[in-house]
Amino acid sequence: MSVLIAPSLLSANFLNLQKDVEMLNRSEADWLHLDVMDGVFVPNISFGFPIIQKIRGATTKILDVHLMIIDPERYLERFRKAGADVISIHAEACKNPLESVKIIRSLGARAGIVINPETPVNVIENLISQVDMVLIMSVHPGFGGQSFIQETFGKIEAVKTMISEINPGVLIEVDGGVDLLNAGKLVKSGVDILVAGNTIFASPDPLQTIHLLKNIS
Ligand code: DX5
Ligand code: ZN
Repeated sequence: MSVLIAPSLLSANFLNLQKDVEMLNRSEADWLHLDVMDGVFVPNISFGFPIIQKIRGATTKILDVHLMIIDPERYLERFRKAGADVISIHAEACKNPLESVKIIRSLGARAGIVINPETPVNVIENLISQVDMVLIMSVHPGFGGQSFIQETFGKIEAVKTMISEINPGVLIEVDGGVDLLNAGKLVKSGVDILVAGNTIFASPDPLQTIHLLKNIS
């Protein structure tokens, strides 16, 4: 399977989202990555249900919703109803991550567990059998356009080992600072889904940049 590309709409033009979503519909992007921030778990606020609902109506691509919100279990059903196909929650943000991933699956969505750069991988060991995806943050969450943290490669390796021992079907997604220089190494390390915001939307030709990421080796 070739790597899946998930452009992050955080770097899109919010005044003309339709244009960007239509561009993504024509592109080789596989998923649309939607970053929800609450201003508490991360020092930034982004968007919520109405925007996700509108995007749902404008694309048939998989909606990959990354919740950077505290106690996400309060809103899982609403994100699913708004159109999320994949819902990822931070291990650091919920009281009972195991219960939350079970709820996500019971709603018919795929469940992802996210870890911040400073969170050790053993924190999610007991969740691997219950999730569809592990999202490894390669920047500190909250903002697009940051530089990739090199230590992420060691973490990918550790998560890969854990997955192969416990639940080999689990996908690995990497989010933050992904660009045309590090994408090849990420794919070789076994990453299944690359999130990219700034690299795609700040490029002169986003369609071509998505094409290059999709075909990176
Ligand atoms: C950061 C978000 C990312 C962000 C990635 O908190 O989770 O999805 O949009 O943006 P880039 O690719 O620009 O680092
Ligand atoms: Zn994200």
